[in-house]
Amino acid sequence: MIAVARAEATAGAALGAAAGDGSPFPPVARPSVERLEGSLIRDVAQSAWDVEGLIPLWFGEPDLPTPPAAVEAAIGSLRAGETLYSSNFGIAPLREAIAEYARGLGRRVTAGRVCVTSSGLNAVMLAAQAILSPGDRVVVLTPHWPNLAAIPQVLGAEIVLVPLSASGGRWRLDLDRLLQALTPEVRMLILNSPSNPTGWTMPAAGMREVLAHCRRLGIWILADEVYERMVFEGQAAPSFLEVAEPDDRLVAVNSFSKAWSMTGWRLGWLTAPEALMPALGRLSEFNTSCAPVFVQRGAIAALSGAGDFVRAATDRLRGLRDLATTRLGAIPGVSVPEPDGAMYAFFAVEGCDDSVALARRLAREARVGLAPGRAFGAAGEGRLRLCFAVAEPTLAEACDRLAAALPALARS
Ligand SMILES: Cc1ncc(COP(=O)(O)O)c(C=O)c1O
Repeated sequence: MIAVARAEATAGAALGAAAGDGSPFPPVARPSVERLEGSLIRDVAQSAWDVEGLIPLWFGEPDLPTPPAAVEAAIGSLRAGETLYSSNFGIAPLREAIAEYARGLGRRVTAGRVCVTSSGLNAVMLAAQAILSPGDRVVVLTPHWPNLAAIPQVLGAEIVLVPLSASGGRWRLDLDRLLQALTPEVRMLILNSPSNPTGWTMPAAGMREVLAHCRRLGIWILADEVYERMVFEGQAAPSFLEVAEPDDRLVAVNSFSKAWSMTGWRLGWLTAPEALMPALGRLSEFNTSCAPVFVQRGAIAALSGAGDFVRAATDRLRGLRDLATTRLGAIPGVSVPEPDGAMYAFFAVEGCDDSVALARRLAREARVGLAPGRAFGAAGEGRLRLCFAVAEPTLAEACDRLAAALPALARS
C-alpha cells in the first residue's frame, strides 16, 4: 500500500515538474477546462437564493407545464417496462416523427439524418466532438449563450467572436463583418437564430449568403435553432435546413425544451448530412449511449399535438413580449431592442458598467432575479436579460418592481 502511494507521489511529482510549475501534482483538470468560467447566471442566483418573494426571471424556461399528452405517454411507457437501453440514434418512431414534423415546416429531412440526443445541449456537444479538433478556429456571434463558446473551448478550439449590434430598436448583424471573419482557417460557424439572449433572428436571405460562403471555403455550420418556434411572425423562424442541400456541411440542433415546455426532460435532436451519421452514432455511444425511451415516447406525443400547443404558447408569448418591452422601455435610462424571437428582453441600463453587481442588487433589493449581461460575453456588459415566459401578472409585478428600483440602483 505504502509502495503504491509512494509510486503515485513520485509519478505526480514528475508530472508536476514536467508542467514546470514546481507543484508536486499537475492541475486537476485539462488547462482548457481549468480556464472555463462558471455560469455568472448561477452566480447571481446563488447570491439571492434566500430572498423571500423573489420573482426569478434569470433562467431560460417557459413556465407552462409540459403538454399532458406527453406526460401520459411517458408514464405509459414506464408502466409498459420500457426502461432498457435503446438505439444510439433514438427510437425509430421518434426519428420518423421528427422528420415528418420538419417536413411539415418545409424542410427536407429524412429520418436517417436525425439523431435524437439527451438535450439540445448534448446535440451541440456531439456535433462539436464530431467535427472539431484542438486548435480549430470557431466563429460565434455575440452576445451569445455561453455554452456555445464553452463547448468548443472544452475541446481545445479557438473562438472568434463577431458582435451583433443594437440600433434603431433592433438587433442587427453586419453580414460583411461576419463573412470577413469566415476565413479559410475557420473550421466551424456556430449560429444561433433566434438568438439567446438577444432574440435576433436571421432572415433566409442572410442564411443563403452565409451558406454559399461557407460552401466555398468548406466551413461547417452548426445552426442552433432551438427557439425556431418562438417567433412573433409566421409559424417558425427561417432555418438553414430550408436553404441547404442534404449533403451540405450543416448540423442543425433542436430541442423539446423550449417550444414544448420540456426543459427538465432533457431531450433534443440534430439533423446532419448522412456522411456524418456513423460518427454521431459512435459519439452518442460514448456520451450517453441513448436517450431514455420513456422520454422519447413523451416527445412523440408532444409532436403529434405540436400545432395546437406551440401556437397557443407562441400567441401568449407575443403578448408577454409586448408587455415586457413596453414596460421596461418606459423606465428612464433603459433601452430595449425588440426581440424577433426567443423569450428574452436583453436591455441596456444607462450608467451600468457591472451587470453582475447590478443583477445581485436587483435580486436582493427589488426582489427580481435577472441574468447579468456579462454572462453572455463582454458584448453583453451593461445589459440585463429578463425571461418573459411567465404568467402576465407575475411579469407585470416584476416590471413594477424594476421601474421602482432600477433608476436609483443603476446610478449608485
Ligand atoms: C441557444 C440555446 N441553445 C440550446 C439550448 C439547450 O437547450 P436544452 O439543452 O435544454 O435542450 C439552450 C438552452 O437554454 C439555448 O438557450
